[in-house]
Amino acid sequence: MIQRKILLGVSGGIASYKSAELVRLLTKAGHEVQVVMTRSATEFVGPVTFQALTGREVFVEMWDKQRGDSMAHISLTRWADLFLVAPATANFLAKLANGIADDLLSTLAAARECPLLVAPAMNKQMWANPANLRNIEQLKVDGVTILGPAAGVQACGEVGEGRMLEPEEIALHVEAAFQPKLLAGKKVLITAGPTFERIDAVRGVTNPSSGKMGYAIARAAWEAGAAVTLVSGPVSLEPPPGCRRIDVLSAQDMLNAVNAEVDEADFFISVAAVADYYVLNQSEQKIKKDAHILTLELAPNPDILANVTARPNPPFCVGFAAESENLLEYAEAKRRRKQLPLLAANLVQTAIGADDNEITLLDDAGQHRLPRAGKLELARKLVAHAARLYLQKKN
Ligand code: PMT
Repeated sequence: MIQRKILLGVSGGIASYKSAELVRLLTKAGHEVQVVMTRSATEFVGPVTFQALTGREVFVEMWDKQRGDSMAHISLTRWADLFLVAPATANFLAKLANGIADDLLSTLAAARECPLLVAPAMNKQMWANPANLRNIEQLKVDGVTILGPAAGVQACGEVGEGRMLEPEEIALHVEAAFQPKLLAGKKVLITAGPTFERIDAVRGVTNPSSGKMGYAIARAAWEAGAAVTLVSGPVSLEPPPGCRRIDVLSAQDMLNAVNAEVDEADFFISVAAVADYYVLNQSEQKIKKDAHILTLELAPNPDILANVTARPNPPFCVGFAAESENLLEYAEAKRRRKQLPLLAANLVQTAIGADDNEITLLDDAGQHRLPRAGKLELARKLVAHAARLYLQKKN
């Protein structure tokens, strides 16, 4: 994880109490955070809270005689790799959209050189106010990234759009802002997790895939600027923000969902641990237990990835191979059989269910080993590799 310098502006809204949690998440991820507050933000949360969390003095006033740094508005923006304002009030956004610099935070925003992200937070009427919506459109044109807002119950008790995104989601957007946009404008279809093949009303055949690898790839593709659709077997993970998830159960459901989406896709990344067989003699009702031996008849499932590569104009396809022995030999044979430009080989014993993994990428140029690391780190490398090969193929 690369350490970054983040300038966090806190303007005066009730959501500013959540900024303390945001600071905690950002510093836990290894980033240095410098907080600047507006005077009205200090009515909601005391600067000392942020000072304790960041270990750095919090700036509020433009003209702080004690500090003797009358150029703080320049030096702080030069220091920062990224400028985030959360919460961003309607008043702050209006000033930003119109180039008004009348306090330290708005002056810093006007003097910035680094990317600026804002997380609006306000009452639903204020959000829907035509002047506010005009300001938001102007800010987008000016290259400011708008995070949210979310809809839901507001501090005033009303329900509607205008809530600040949760700190966890803002932190994900911050990490994404640091990733190169290698897949900007591309559509990526990903399968993840296990499938579940029904035996009867309550039982089924499945496997221990947690979905972590597939969801990490979905997050990495989203961070790289792609529109991501995630066809997911039953897992207990939240999809990354901005990813559309389609829930499926069986391999046949997964095939149907992939077929419905694949025409639109530039990339298809098949990470799911799809059951190779389904139960032929399924029972509608729960099978009653008795002393007899129960025999399940298994019939082969369709191969989803092979179906996609066999299409007349397939997207750029990336397969996975989970092997328990002879990893590279079996994986390369799989790559050739399924006609894949890229395949990620991993040992099932150490890959499945784990938080980290070790992968070898196989392509026409040979083998590229990615040493053991967290699944997100590997996913970012895999996405970058796939994007490079895709470009080579196009040119
Ligand atoms: O979910 P995690 O706990 O994070 O674990 C990740 C993982 C180990 C499941 C993942 O890294 C992985 O290896 N996924 C592929 C597992 C697998 O089914 O491998 P396979 O060698 O059986 O299949 C080869 C390829 O064909 C895979 O891309 C698979 O998605 C695809 N396939 C397989 C069978 C089938 N009927 N349809 C398919 O599309």
